[in-house]
Amino acid sequence: MTTKLFSPYTIKDVTLKNRIVMSPMCMYSSHNEDGHIQNWHRTHYTSRAVGQVGLIIVEATAVTPQGRISPQDLGIWGDEHIDGFQELVGLVKEHGARIGIQLAHAGRKAVLEGEIVAPSAIAFNEQSKKPKEMTKTEIAETVEAFKKGAERAKKAGFDVIEIHGAHGYLINQFLSPLSNKRNDEYGGTAENRYRILREVIDAVKTVWDGPLFVRVSANDYHENGLTPADYIIFSKWMKEQGVDLIDVSSGAVVPAHIHAFPSYQVPYSEIIRNEAGIATGAVGLITSPIQAEEILQNDRADLVFLGRELLRDPYWPRTAAKELGVEIEAPKQYERGWL
Ligand SMILES: Cc1cc2nc3c(=O)[nH]c(=O)nc-3n(C[C@H](O)[C@H](O)[C@H](O)COP(=O)(O)O)c2cc1C
Repeated sequence: MTTKLFSPYTIKDVTLKNRIVMSPMCMYSSHNEDGHIQNWHRTHYTSRAVGQVGLIIVEATAVTPQGRISPQDLGIWGDEHIDGFQELVGLVKEHGARIGIQLAHAGRKAVLEGEIVAPSAIAFNEQSKKPKEMTKTEIAETVEAFKKGAERAKKAGFDVIEIHGAHGYLINQFLSPLSNKRNDEYGGTAENRYRILREVIDAVKTVWDGPLFVRVSANDYHENGLTPADYIIFSKWMKEQGVDLIDVSSGAVVPAHIHAFPSYQVPYSEIIRNEAGIATGAVGLITSPIQAEEILQNDRADLVFLGRELLRDPYWPRTAAKELGVEIEAPKQYERGWL
């Protein structure tokens, strides 16, 4: 039997052995608060490569110290970070998986000592710190930091770069009119709110010609917020700029109730894929193999991203193959126990 889940997928010159992607998930394990890779990261990501995941996307990795969500986040703001990532990339690739990195800036969602920044001086909620409105110089420095992060990711040998434009972090804060109240060319119209993302993509592309993903929150779940229709437009612009795939998530730019159920974000992926004509990844409460296969067979996404299910079961690809009646290669050392 052939399945789409276990068919290869090629983007530019990178071929994934299947359509299973490990969704970026913060591990908050950079214990020395310096952004460096630790043993936890080596074990955690390599285990999923042994488990036959096609593409592993390393957690939100901060492009500046101020852009971390927490002090324990991974970082790629200095050349001293390259060696650790290079080692991790080597460990993961040894097992036939491909590896990407999510470049991120938390903006007003940073929970750090000192000043935090955002498009406008509006706190996320009553418990969070009020950010400082970014100057145009700070915006330019942040765009440059994404570019430097991409340059370092390339040196480390990553196959894919994903820009974090979702979950209410800095880029998402610029995109949404709920968090962006600026009066300059970075606020107001959709073109203006998109400007920082446009600049980040252009800057990254000057140093990176490999597969480029952008994760978006396709619904603000707020009457004055953005909807999937807005993200069709943004996705068309991203396609024009040479982005290869939109990783479609939702929510978290403002506190809002989200009614989550299996595949709840898949319709956003489907509409962006069909209306903007760009490859997408679907994510969110995708847990069963037949559910993943349905999403791919019905052209609702090109890749399926799994988060928590892969925390529970690092061998999920094996579990899925068994259930779908597909034989997949085992790590040589595990052959006697694989089928
Ligand atoms: C522990 C944990 C950490 C996460 N960290 C990130 C992150 O760094 N970047 C990101 O875009 N999403 C992050 N997410 C969201 C996941 O990537 C995923 O979109 C979400 O968990 C929904 O998918 P799931 O239902 O398969 O878990 C995180 C989720 C979890 C559970």
